[in-house]
Amino acid sequence: MNWTLAQRAHKMNPSVIREILKVTEKPGIVSFAGGLPSPLTFPVEAMREATHKVLTEDGRSALQYAASEGYGPLREWVAQSLTQQGMTVGADQVLITTGSQQGLDLVAKILIDAGSRILVETPTYLGALQAYTPMEPNVVSVNSDHEGVDPADLRAKAGTGADAARFVYLLPNFQNPTGRTMTEARRAAVAAAAAESGLPVIEDNPYGDLWFDQPPPASLASRHPDGTVYLGSFSKILAPGLRLGFLVAPKTLYPKLLQAKQAADLHTPSFNQRVVAEVLKDGFIDRHVPTIRALYKSQCETMLAALTREFGHSGQGGPGIDLEQSLTWNRPAGGMFLWTRLPAGLDAVRLLPQAVERNVAFVPGSAFYADHGDPRTMRLSFVTATAEQIDTGIAALAAAIRDAQSGAR
Ligand SMILES: Cc1ncc(COP(=O)(O)O)c(C=O)c1O
Repeated sequence: MNWTLAQRAHKMNPSVIREILKVTEKPGIVSFAGGLPSPLTFPVEAMREATHKVLTEDGRSALQYAASEGYGPLREWVAQSLTQQGMTVGADQVLITTGSQQGLDLVAKILIDAGSRILVETPTYLGALQAYTPMEPNVVSVNSDHEGVDPADLRAKAGTGADAARFVYLLPNFQNPTGRTMTEARRAAVAAAAAESGLPVIEDNPYGDLWFDQPPPASLASRHPDGTVYLGSFSKILAPGLRLGFLVAPKTLYPKLLQAKQAADLHTPSFNQRVVAEVLKDGFIDRHVPTIRALYKSQCETMLAALTREFGHSGQGGPGIDLEQSLTWNRPAGGMFLWTRLPAGLDAVRLLPQAVERNVAFVPGSAFYADHGDPRTMRLSFVTATAEQIDTGIAALAAAIRDAQSGAR
């Protein structure tokens, strides 16, 4: 049989990260590569009780087809919880999605034509590029620094008329992959640039609740409400296997997103929605999320301390450190990742097999760029390895880097 693939299928690529994860499935390896939340944080007991309650009290409705918009009480909960982000939204603007990944896919389907210009951060979330690429957009990277996108470059690349960008995709909180956060001033400048250019924003915020010492500034959606689709997720605050996320859209756009949702999967599993709505009753999240924050903060501190021990500085250099000859790294204020840059002359893709040989793995940063990536960058997740494994893994990584440096000389 001759299967003729659609043009868009040719654009689809396997996730580089999933391919890398296969290499790292070696027994005994310390993996900083995966983007998985720590299973220690999954609320197994609360889920067990809520599942029992839903099945006992309302089992037949919970197992029936349901509304595409999502389960009413869960939509209400989402709308209410977003007031903490400075947002005033009605439950009728909330669409429950099958993970926030589906939100990215729905947005792509309704907003991108072949050749449409879309803007992304440098670097950006790989899964968003995977969702957008089959729609055949012209993906343009906006210059970015440790606070996110540069508002001046955003204005310059927004375009006008038929060439106007369809949207800019932004991750203001503890970004995947870099762990960086947009400051208050940068948010104000980005929201102003977007509003003045008539540029819609897709704001992706799966990590915003995972702050270490203080919550991040208010969302972009709170500053540019008519021009933003906001994406959220239960994956990082409850469990990713639930596949529960949500989007909040301006009322004018909502019906199209709903139609795309209906075509995709009719609705998000209603059973999962009811169980989670039950779990969330009575302020569960306010007791649960602080435990995740505390765990991730301590894991992050362990990794930062191990890096300092191995490389002799606190991330961005210090007396007697030649930054071009050392690993450098940032100090995230929340989330799951930190971002590192190898000494000059090294390449993270080439380093990976040498690191795996020493039983440690990471994701080369070049995977996260829409165009030419910085080959020296790497993403390290600090949440799934134990404190002991973090120490061993960072020591092994440092040894692999030293070996590669002496080979490069
Ligand atoms: C930035 C970002 N957006 C979206 C997602 C998708 O999350 P989910 O579909 O589990 O809600 C992820 C997952 O890691 C992510 O890092």
